[in-house]
Amino acid sequence: MDDECRGAWTLVYKLWFIFIPVLTVFVFTEESTVLASDIASLGDSEPDLIGHKPARRNLHDVAKESTVLVSDITLLGDSETELINHKPARRKLDDVDSSISIDCGIPEDFHYADVKTELHYASDAGFIDTGLNKNISLQYQSETLQRSLMNVRSFPQGKRNCYTIKPAEGKDTVYLIRASFMYGNYDDRDQLPEFELYVGVNSWDSVKFDNASHIVMKEIIHVPLMDSVYVCLLNTGSGTPFISALELRHFHDSSYRTQSRSLLLYKRLDVGSTGEMVRYKDDSYDRIWFPYNMPNCVPFDTPLPIDSLGESDYKLPSRVMKTAVKPLNDRDSLDFDFETGDSTLEFYVYMHFAELEKLQENQSREFDIQINGLPWKNSVVPNYLNSTTIDTRKLVRGTKLSFSISKTSDSSLPPILNAMEMYIVKDSLQAPTDQGDVDAIIKIKSRYAVDKTWQGDPCAPRTCWDGLNCTYTGYDPPRIISLDLSSRGLLGNIDPSFADLRELQYLDLSNNSLTGQLPDFLSELPLLRFLNLTGNKLSGSIPSGLMGRKNTGSLDLRVDKNPDFCQSPPCKKEKNFVVPLVAATVSFLAILLALVVYWRFKRKQPDVKLVVKSHDEEGSLESNNRHFTYSEVVSITNNFQTVIGKGGFGTVYHGYLADGTQVAVKMLSTSSNQGSKQFRTEAQFLMRVHHRNLASFVGYCNEGTNIGLIYEYMANGSLQQHLSDKTKNALSWKERLQIAVDVAHGLEYLHYGCKPPIIHRDVKSANILLNEDLQAKIADFGFSRDFPLENESHLSTAVVGTFGYLDPEYFSSNRLTEKSDVYSFGIVLLELITGRPAILRSHENTHIVDWVSPNLARGDIRSIVDPRLQGSFDTNSVWKALETAMACLPSISIQRPTMTQVLIELKECSTIEIAHDETWRMEGNTFETNSVDPEIEMGPQAR
Ligand SMILES: *[C@@H]1O[C@H](CO)[C@@H](O)[C@H](O)[C@H]1NC(C)=O
Ligand SMILES: *[C@@H]1O[C@H](CO)[C@@H](O)[C@H](O)[C@H]1NC(C)=O
Ligand SMILES: *[C@@H]1O[C@H](CO)[C@@H](O)[C@H](O)[C@H]1NC(C)=O
Ligand SMILES: *[C@@H]1O[C@H](CO)[C@@H](O)[C@H](O)[C@H]1NC(C)=O
Repeated sequence: MDDECRGAWTLVYKLWFIFIPVLTVFVFTEESTVLASDIASLGDSEPDLIGHKPARRNLHDVAKESTVLVSDITLLGDSETELINHKPARRKLDDVDSSISIDCGIPEDFHYADVKTELHYASDAGFIDTGLNKNISLQYQSETLQRSLMNVRSFPQGKRNCYTIKPAEGKDTVYLIRASFMYGNYDDRDQLPEFELYVGVNSWDSVKFDNASHIVMKEIIHVPLMDSVYVCLLNTGSGTPFISALELRHFHDSSYRTQSRSLLLYKRLDVGSTGEMVRYKDDSYDRIWFPYNMPNCVPFDTPLPIDSLGESDYKLPSRVMKTAVKPLNDRDSLDFDFETGDSTLEFYVYMHFAELEKLQENQSREFDIQINGLPWKNSVVPNYLNSTTIDTRKLVRGTKLSFSISKTSDSSLPPILNAMEMYIVKDSLQAPTDQGDVDAIIKIKSRYAVDKTWQGDPCAPRTCWDGLNCTYTGYDPPRIISLDLSSRGLLGNIDPSFADLRELQYLDLSNNSLTGQLPDFLSELPLLRFLNLTGNKLSGSIPSGLMGRKNTGSLDLRVDKNPDFCQSPPCKKEKNFVVPLVAATVSFLAILLALVVYWRFKRKQPDVKLVVKSHDEEGSLESNNRHFTYSEVVSITNNFQTVIGKGGFGTVYHGYLADGTQVAVKMLSTSSNQGSKQFRTEAQFLMRVHHRNLASFVGYCNEGTNIGLIYEYMANGSLQQHLSDKTKNALSWKERLQIAVDVAHGLEYLHYGCKPPIIHRDVKSANILLNEDLQAKIADFGFSRDFPLENESHLSTAVVGTFGYLDPEYFSSNRLTEKSDVYSFGIVLLELITGRPAILRSHENTHIVDWVSPNLARGDIRSIVDPRLQGSFDTNSVWKALETAMACLPSISIQRPTMTQVLIELKECSTIEIAHDETWRMEGNTFETNSVDPEIEMGPQAR
């Protein structure tokens, strides 16, 4: 029950990578919003298209002139019939409003609306620092060519060049990223290059061309692990990489989400279409669908819209779904196959169906689907004018994928197929560099304007930025271990960001023009072995921390050739003889003062109280708390026989009072200075607060160095132990809800029942104790703070708390409000629901919120709820609890509810669950329950 915070703070930087993403989401949001809206607002100035005739260009002609390739598979794009229904309507971007469309290689301030899609393309200048703008050769320019293919950005320099895109939605969201390339002999060399494309640190695909007018499009569905998406072009020695256009679209739901994987588009087919390819605005996600017809089939369609009453999960375009094929002969199956040519590739297949014919009463359509001769899905019955997707995401592989859709024996009508998507599954094996390191090195890069070749991920894939060395261990995020910035003309002070490269071992800043003092923060880098500052303009002397490291030989520190720097004492600015004198005087006075204070303290207060200030209203409570002598404590604990807990500040023992009451005795370890302060804080709070859901305080001991606090014994230990101990009986859902209600009561009392209000600051499952009736009480007020003034909205204070539970806003701003406790409570609630800890060590230290959110987005409640509950709970109750938990967790504190609101919600959950329980029993089940109505049990609160 003692604090892990000390430990946690030393782990700060190990856990850094968990938190920084959380924080950066919130830091970056603003920035990227600006970006997105910039693009949007650029788009508004449609009429003044700069330097360009709004030429009439029909996209479908592109298909005629040059084959459009998607992921190296040639698709037929012949089209003639349909005329584009092109209204110069006001732009309404729907789902693509947060999309980013970049025309690579146009001058910096250019932007325009694409004639066909009306999507707004902006210059790539804001997304990349390197490369040259080029026009494709006149010979390949044509009225019909999509505007974004007219220019390219080419990268004759550097092995790796990266675009950095910060979409407003941040990491952990599903994006569609599409890169387009057309060589068009832009460099007049008539030589088709070949190069590699990367997304983040993972290989995406290689780019190859058949000829200069060959349009290659690469599309990937990707869930980035970081807030920035890097799209990188890698020079493999087979020609200069270039790019024509880059587009990013955002899927609002998680239909295409896969576990830490990316989906590389293989085929997206508008089956039965006789028209042109379909994209935005028909497809609100701007997926591109290519017409496809298989042999021995009849295309057919309906004039009626599909999904007119509501969008399907995949938001399938009506235009795509209203065409389909059926076999020539009604008794035949639909058979078709694709040569993949690579048996190692794994595919996800999505098939989309909608019934296009109004069936008569005696008609039915039902079919089975097979892949490579094996059953995939049986008894599919398409809905009339409504989409159904078969997306079991079965992994399939083989050099050839054969599909067969055949009617079942009961079916009177032949099978159909409206649309289909196939993706190659890409495993993301390489983790991106630790986010803390990335943030630090990016700051260093911009602070000292280092090198434009520093792009993309600093350490990955397997090559790092010039001047950096990284460690690679398994699939862990790489860390930066050495940084050589010698002779780079660095100016100014040594930036604190260096100290954020927590695994740094080697730092060379020699032969630059760094000025100012040598800061001591570098001594905080635990692994630093080599620090070279030779040949700079530093002043001052070696600070104590670094001096200590140097003296113990753990650091090779070099500061020669800094003319104003004093390397070893005596340093001329320090008046050596004064220092010892001053020091001696000061210590003498200090000792004297201490003696006086000690003596007065002893004299005046034989029965020393820890209480510094006491409040009138709680005066009566104080008398309940006894002072114990050390010998009494020894006898209570039977000479400290049974240890029941250990923490940074001391040890907790089990004991019996004379009347047989069990107690827990927390003794402060003699060495802990900080601990003593916290003990006092805690004792002060314990004497003031009294509530059935707060740990009750029995007394204290304060004799010399023997300082201890005595509490009511909580037989069932901490909630954390209870949830993690798999040998104990799992807490039932009802018990968990009751615990949540208890804790919420306790916090509500602290926030609104105490004057001045109290913020606990360290709410976590380890600080929630359970008595023998599983009644929950909040313990450990060592970090609690009064929240004094009504007229102040927040308190600025140093951040304390425990990682995993710590409010990101408080963490980043130091602004403390009672909503910080609400955040921590939300985490505890998630722990109760999932049975998992705040930080999932088994999932690469994933924060519980990041683990729950995607499952929640999928509506996959079963995978969230603690499996030990074995499904015995009311789903509505759990849903509501989950919603309540998530409501506590926005990174902006004002968006969180108060504990009073939370309490109301939780009581409702409890009511639902109890009702569910009772129904269950009335139906004849024998189920032991100590059903207590939480409302009744609560009673009046001690305030
Ligand atoms: C260029 O390559 C594409 C794809 O291979 C092909 O369909 C097209 O006919 C070629 N164009 C020319 C002009 O050779
Ligand atoms: C590309 O062509 C435009 C005119 O169409 C011209 O203004 C521009 O300077 C050209 N850019 C390059 C890099 O040649
Ligand atoms: C970085 O790695 C390179 C290549 O392995 C090596 O030559 C160099 O000495 C390393 N630098 C540091 C500072 O460790
Ligand atoms: C110091 O850096 C300058 C450029 O900043 C370079 O010309 C010079 O050779 C470097 N000297 C040494 C000793 O590395």
